[in-house]
Amino acid sequence: MQAYVAHAMDIPMSQVHGLFRSIRFSTTQPRGKHTIKFCLGTACYVGGVPQLIEKARQALGIEPGQTTKDGLVTLELCRCVGACSQAR
Ligand code: FES
Repeated sequence: MQAYVAHAMDIPMSQVHGLFRSIRFSTTQPRGKHTIKFCLGTACYVGGVPQLIEKARQALGIEPGQTTKDGLVTLELCRCVGACSQAR
């Protein structure tokens, strides 16, 4: 897709790639149908998110940043999403 955009706009692909990389939620890897994000912010971390991550790793057999082989689930880590009061 990046090559297509570069060609269509008649600009270097490095320019398109640089823009793509600057977009916060962009990725060059296919994502699963469902994405599970674990917040690593302080409140969630203290509230037990490391244990949840470990459970998900064991249940799905993948590491954060990976997608299950069936393409259904991607695990991701993120920072505070503003739901700190729900961290328990
Ligand atoms: S620390 Fe997780 S939502 Fe704020």
